[in-house]
Amino acid sequence: MPVMDSVKLGKDVRIFQPDLINLYGCTIGDETKIGAFVEIQGGASIGARCKISSHSFICEGVTIEDEVFIGHGVMFTNDVYPRATTPDGMLATAADWTCSPTRVGRRASIGSNATILPNLTIGENALVAAGAVVTRDVPANAIVAGVPAVVVGDVSDKR
Ligand SMILES: CC(C)(COP(=O)(O)OP(=O)(O)OC[C@H]1O[C@@H](n2cnc3c(N)ncnc32)[C@H](O)[C@@H]1OP(=O)(O)O)[C@@H](O)C(=O)NCCC(=O)NCCS
Repeated sequence: MPVMDSVKLGKDVRIFQPDLINLYGCTIGDETKIGAFVEIQGGASIGARCKISSHSFICEGVTIEDEVFIGHGVMFTNDVYPRATTPDGMLATAADWTCSPTRVGRRASIGSNATILPNLTIGENALVAAGAVVTRDVPANAIVAGVPAVVVGDVSDKR
């Protein structure tokens, strides 16, 4: 089932192709729109009036405030040193890793195909360029681009 009962859905959330998404244990705010092939994991929180474009992955530990734009194929992460197994070769479990949280401030935008490394904050109204790999906190209102992403401008003269 693509939208599990464990999801807390706000009012008037629009899910464009409910059979082509995977939502479980997360919270989605009022009037947010979610495109096809999006996965939002348990413990993630999405604010009101956000747009989550197709093919994006939002993992446990991610908090997205209101009015945020997430482009297509945006990848969040929550484990700095991921491993499939423990040193003795057993499959790793929830007890074997620490979830590193990420927060995206109100009205920020994240361009398509950006990767957001764990344990950082993207400030309010900031803009992450398409294809950026964000490895450090992004100041409010900054435009960041590149790999690793660096500040290349300010949104004050944009929309
Ligand atoms: C970063 C961004 C906001 C810059 O837009 P802009 O201010 O109009 O910038 P320009 O196109 O004039 O480019 C300015 C410079 O930045 C570079 N640049 C533009 N976008 C870039 C990106 N995504 N990554 C790296 N460099 C980029 C350009 O090559 C140019 O470099 P130059 O000065 O050496 O020639 C825009 O390119 C972008 O990535 N927007 C997000 C698009 C998106 O993903 N939308 C979501 C789904 S539709």
